[in-house]
Amino acid sequence: MEARIRENRWQHSPHSVRTFISKNKAGQSKTLLLKPAMSAWKYKKSKLKMRRPEKYTMSNPFGRDLVIRMFHVNKHYGAKQALVDLSLEINQNEFVFVTGPSGAGKSTLLKLLYRGEPVSGGQIIIDGMNLGAIPDKRIPMLRRKIGIIFQDYKLIVRKTVFDNVALVLEAAGQKQGLIQKKVRSVLRIVGMEDRLDAMPPSLSGGEQQRVAVARAVVGDPTIILADEPTASLDPESARIVFELIQQFHEKGATVLIATHDLEMARRSGGRLIRLRSGRLENDTHMSDL
Ligand SMILES: Nc1ncnc2c1ncn2[C@@H]1O[C@H](COP(=O)(O)OP(=O)(O)OP(=O)(O)O)[C@@H](O)[C@H]1O
Ligand SMILES: [Mg+2]
Repeated sequence: MEARIRENRWQHSPHSVRTFISKNKAGQSKTLLLKPAMSAWKYKKSKLKMRRPEKYTMSNPFGRDLVIRMFHVNKHYGAKQALVDLSLEINQNEFVFVTGPSGAGKSTLLKLLYRGEPVSGGQIIIDGMNLGAIPDKRIPMLRRKIGIIFQDYKLIVRKTVFDNVALVLEAAGQKQGLIQKKVRSVLRIVGMEDRLDAMPPSLSGGEQQRVAVARAVVGDPTIILADEPTASLDPESARIVFELIQQFHEKGATVLIATHDLEMARRSGGRLIRLRSGRLENDTHMSDL
């Protein structure tokens, strides 16, 4: 190989920055700078770590803005066909409502996107990650890109409000100082900063869902998936929760909401995807209706 390294040697440059000099056959040398105190093997490991995700990603020939792509996706549970030949493309920062009658496949669609369920056929690419190609140990990496909100909140009942939200950052290996700051800041945005030590069962449904929104967004996800997030709430709480989701959408997240509430969708604009019996029945923009 032409670029084969023929001579590699370590040098200590002034200011204790270490340099790694490599030479190829033609005698051209390439110098790599290392941070002080970073050993050669650590440097190599960090480079490998940075490269690893690419193993599971695909370049995007259609441009950088597509954050979700589904190609001819099928999902069946035994004999039950939940999604049939579904192809979709969703751009970065789109606000998408997924609607359709009960059993149409809305929740299934969201589950496939966060790999809560595997596809039965077809392919899904999320922010460059091919979900069919990533091994289970890479799922946490995918989930860090995604914030999920459920109809029934799914907070951990034995943990405080603060801990429920902090868990996301702890799992991502963040430092305690940053966790303290970030969790408090997000809980302030959702109006729950004075309930940090409360346990979920002592909160109203609307309050629990606000905590769930905080948990979904605290890791700055690229995508927010919400499965009927307001269906269990009174109209005022529903409005607050929906406006919070809109607020995080304005900060740059791509949002998919599965809902029966067409009025909410109509009020807010955005894209409307309608499923029926697992098939894409309609894909339109509210402004076109
Ligand atoms: N775990 C499962 N095992 C078997 N069948 C399932 C499972 N999950 C969903 N289904 C079936 O797949 C189809 C789609 O279900 P899904 O929950 O996605 O519908 P939905 O549109 O979210 O409905 P709803 O509006 O009632 O929430 C339904 O017929 C459902 O019974
Ligand atoms: Mg559902």
